[in-house]
Amino acid sequence: MKNFTSRTLRKLYLDFFAEKGHAVIPSASLIPENDPTVLFTTAGMHPLVPYLLGEKHPAGRRLCDVQKCVRTGDIDEVGDSAHCTFFEMLGNWSLGDYFKEQMIPWSYEFLTSPKYLGIPSDDIAVTCFAGDGDCPRDEESAKLWLECGIKKEHIFFLPKSGNWWGPAGTTGPCGPDTEMHIIRNHAEADKLGAFDFDKAPAGTFLEIWNDVFMQYNKNAEGKYEPLAQRNVDTGMGLERTLCILGGKESVYETDIFEEAIAVIEKLTGRKYSEGGEVTRAFRVVLDHARTAVFMLGDKKGIVPSNTDQGYILRRIIRRAVRFGRNIGLAQGSLKDIASAIINKYAEVYPELTENSSKIYEELEKEEGKFSRTLQQGLKEFEKVAAVLPQGGKIDGITAFHLYDTYGFPVEITGEMAREKGLEVDVEGYAAAFAEHQAKSRAGSEAKFACGLADHKEETTRLHTATHLLHAALKKVLSPDIEQKGSNITEERLRFDFNFSRKLTPEEVTAVEELVNGQIQKDVPVVMEEMSYDEAKSRGFVGLFESKYGERVKTYSIGDFSREICGGPHAKSTGELGVFKIVKQENVSAGVKRIKAILE
Ligand code: ALA
Repeated sequence: MKNFTSRTLRKLYLDFFAEKGHAVIPSASLIPENDPTVLFTTAGMHPLVPYLLGEKHPAGRRLCDVQKCVRTGDIDEVGDSAHCTFFEMLGNWSLGDYFKEQMIPWSYEFLTSPKYLGIPSDDIAVTCFAGDGDCPRDEESAKLWLECGIKKEHIFFLPKSGNWWGPAGTTGPCGPDTEMHIIRNHAEADKLGAFDFDKAPAGTFLEIWNDVFMQYNKNAEGKYEPLAQRNVDTGMGLERTLCILGGKESVYETDIFEEAIAVIEKLTGRKYSEGGEVTRAFRVVLDHARTAVFMLGDKKGIVPSNTDQGYILRRIIRRAVRFGRNIGLAQGSLKDIASAIINKYAEVYPELTENSSKIYEELEKEEGKFSRTLQQGLKEFEKVAAVLPQGGKIDGITAFHLYDTYGFPVEITGEMAREKGLEVDVEGYAAAFAEHQAKSRAGSEAKFACGLADHKEETTRLHTATHLLHAALKKVLSPDIEQKGSNITEERLRFDFNFSRKLTPEEVTAVEELVNGQIQKDVPVVMEEMSYDEAKSRGFVGLFESKYGERVKTYSIGDFSREICGGPHAKSTGELGVFKIVKQENVSAGVKRIKAILE
């Protein structure tokens, strides 16, 4: 088979579909817009969801692109020959235009034509959806493959677990798919019946492309509604395909990593090809450095932090540093590796070059932070591990101490523990973490104690509206919403809370309606003094215990809102007027700000 470079494969794919009337669109950001279901873009279709659901795309109904993707479910597995956290997905879409009859012959042509991938037809196996209660067997796709020239014995059927594609989150467009595989072991493949695909020994088939025929929308109740518009969504992993066609053992041996490997070899004096733990460390550093470069260099780039996307980035950089140490990468090396990666992608993703100073700066900062404590933390870890028996558990408080004092994300501690045949008490860690958070919040919230600029009537009314808003956000978004800050003047309220994305227009309306519903009901605002413990057990929110001692003031608005708070407040909600959200802002990763007024 042909040994393509990444550059050639991208071009071949886009040229092929451009020739078939597709608009080539740029890769969307790695950070999804208006999508609460995932932290990162995980597939080419992901940024296109609104269009797959029927919205008109400005570039037309036939699209193709190369999309930057991140999947972080298996970070700990990165280091073997198969796993990567970042990859590029080649994809093409029909938005209510062509369907199976067109897509399958095109897939066949791209795979087998000597002008494109030139794979011998007999080396290709396909799988189709076997059918179940939601959707019948996809005989149509099987027939189309047969007509193209795929051997009957190479057409297999799999249930939903194998031949159905749903979105990364729980809801959205989905449907049966058909997957294309290279046959690596004909002897084994020939033994299989049409429904035995899963029984083949590992390595018999290698998947390279997936055509999804989207004809359903999975709604919030888990039901499959037929989509008004039938779409095609395909995805081919760039690195994976290069690796398979080039007959390489792993994606790390494709041209993509050549320069970066040379840099690491030069910095460490070690060889990627040494094997065992050395090769593993090279791969971890290569994958994680690349992912960090793309996360930092994205147009909507993020920075390391302790929540959401920022935490994943932090974990990835720190894991790279830990593995880098094992092959002698000194502090500050990530920058040189990043530079090789940025160069490699300069033509395809100019944002990396544009943001290169930010990338270098943030990598250096994060690497520095972790490097300072890594040695000591490792010593501490060894001490703890040494006294535990095989199969023993590192307790939650120790794991939290390793995080809080030495900067070890608990997942890294978990991985180090597993390397020694130990475990981490993850629940105990979560409890220790929560307790710590509660304590530090008590300090910081007390500082802004409701954040009233003055006690004028307007300000007081907005203060009561703030409590309604807080309660409404918990109901609409998540019970985990917590106040992170508040500032109230006579003109507006400003409320900061833990949430990782902007609210959708529907959520804004739902929050406004809940608040205005309480205002219309003219509910009395009731103040009671009680012990902190009683307030807590009665479900009042707020953490002022360390500052205000035993007795606290509480305010309740019917059953809707209960907060520990110093006041003052309106006497009843009827005084407030009409509540309106006027602005949403980003405060930091994972903290959003709402500004609202009373009209
Ligand atoms: N969305 C499909 C996939 O990611 C094409 O496999």
